[in-house]
Amino acid sequence: MSSPLVFGIFQYIGPNGTVGSAWQSPRDESANFTKLAHWTALARKFEDAKLDFLFLADSYGFPALDGELLPASVREGRGIPHGDPMPLISALAAVTEKLGYILTTSTTVEPPAANARRFATLDHFTDGRIGWNIVTGSSGATVAALMGKELIAHDLRYDMADDYLDVNLTLWEGSWEDDALVLDKESAVYADPAKVHMVHHEGPYFRTDGILNLPPSPQRTPLLVQAGASGRGRQFAGRNAEAVFVGGGEPATVARTIAGIRESAVAAGRPADAIKVMVGALFITAPTSEEAWAKHAEMLAMSTDEGAAAIYAGNTGVDLLALDPDKPIAQKSTELGQSNLERYLGADGKPAPLVRDILENFRRTGINGSVFVGAPEEVADQIEEFVAATGADGFLIQPHLVPETYDDLIDLLLPVLRDRGLARHEYEGDTLRERLFGVGCTQLPETHRGYDFRVGRSA
Ligand SMILES: Cc1cc2nc3c(=O)[nH]c(=O)nc-3n(C[C@H](O)[C@H](O)[C@H](O)COP(=O)(O)O)c2cc1C
Repeated sequence: MSSPLVFGIFQYIGPNGTVGSAWQSPRDESANFTKLAHWTALARKFEDAKLDFLFLADSYGFPALDGELLPASVREGRGIPHGDPMPLISALAAVTEKLGYILTTSTTVEPPAANARRFATLDHFTDGRIGWNIVTGSSGATVAALMGKELIAHDLRYDMADDYLDVNLTLWEGSWEDDALVLDKESAVYADPAKVHMVHHEGPYFRTDGILNLPPSPQRTPLLVQAGASGRGRQFAGRNAEAVFVGGGEPATVARTIAGIRESAVAAGRPADAIKVMVGALFITAPTSEEAWAKHAEMLAMSTDEGAAAIYAGNTGVDLLALDPDKPIAQKSTELGQSNLERYLGADGKPAPLVRDILENFRRTGINGSVFVGAPEEVADQIEEFVAATGADGFLIQPHLVPETYDDLIDLLLPVLRDRGLARHEYEGDTLRERLFGVGCTQLPETHRGYDFRVGRSA
């Protein structure tokens, strides 16, 4: 029997998923994204289905070009609005016991020590079910402007991210020894002062002198996730990530990306399988193939060129609508997100696609997507083929109609995947890291560089 794949759900705190603007469907409930009950019901649904985690994507950015809003984005609710996932996590943790939560923060926004404290608090409140998607940020230009900063060049952002992570690791691993918390009411000792340490970090970009002002949480360091597939992004992942989200697409391209990530891990002195790679994918299924394709057509009818171009522009800085539709993109690099530019530059000896085809592909698949359509058995076949061709460890499932697309997944597709040994029947382990790496793997492994930041190990 095959081993189960990892299945996480991708959500924005907003009215849309990654393809089109589904909120307008009478069957869609995403416009309730401002209501806590909308999210608690979804989290319970995902846990009942034994899904591994809910990922809440985030960015302070929004689609804009040259300091101007892109009207399609506002009109269609794409990229605008977008709420902050962090305050949601405690409410979701309170109504679930096993579901993991991964959320994004950018290394360009808040000071690293603030990030460390917040994730440590969340690791306590979730009993070790939290993961951090470390991004240098999509829509970097609008984020920088909003924060009153200059846009930092692409590769420098990743250099700074390495240093940012060091501050976080130092605080999580280096401040409290495992047995520093005494909690002895008789002797009135809360914690042992000899076992709580000041940490000092002086890196090229960040420095800190202080403590993590919390006792160790179940995972200490949250599960470290990364999602930028540029060359420098893959290098960062190889050194730091335990899980990587990659965009879908042609299996050969995805296979190369995944192989590149594993090579980066090995180059950083880690085992190739130290990183779990999950591919962004949309599963559109229904009892029959015809019904599934009808749902797919319905989705595309809600996806406009203008909306897709706005998202693309915000992410890459390239305005597809302003380019000659009958030529490839001339621009070969960007200081914003590179993954979605590199995706369309041509590879394996194939010519770069034309702008009109890029726009159509992006309109159909969005920032992350492989799209699998069909009756449940057909989609399960496609999943098996894709995994065999790419070496992916699992999928990050993109939303379409909420909750209908999830109900189809849970009621129709997951039972087929379970029968094939590709989806889990039961949860094992309590923490998010154990969910991905097995029972007992609660904290960073010895092969991760963060392990060496731990204080008092010999004691
Ligand atoms: C599945 C997936 C999820 C992502 N989630 C986020 C996110 O939540 N926030 C964000 O700013 N970027 C997100 N990204 C984009 C990348 O993390 C990255 O910031 C961007 O592509 C720029 O990095 P790059 O130049 O290495 O591509 C995501 C990408 C993928 C494929």
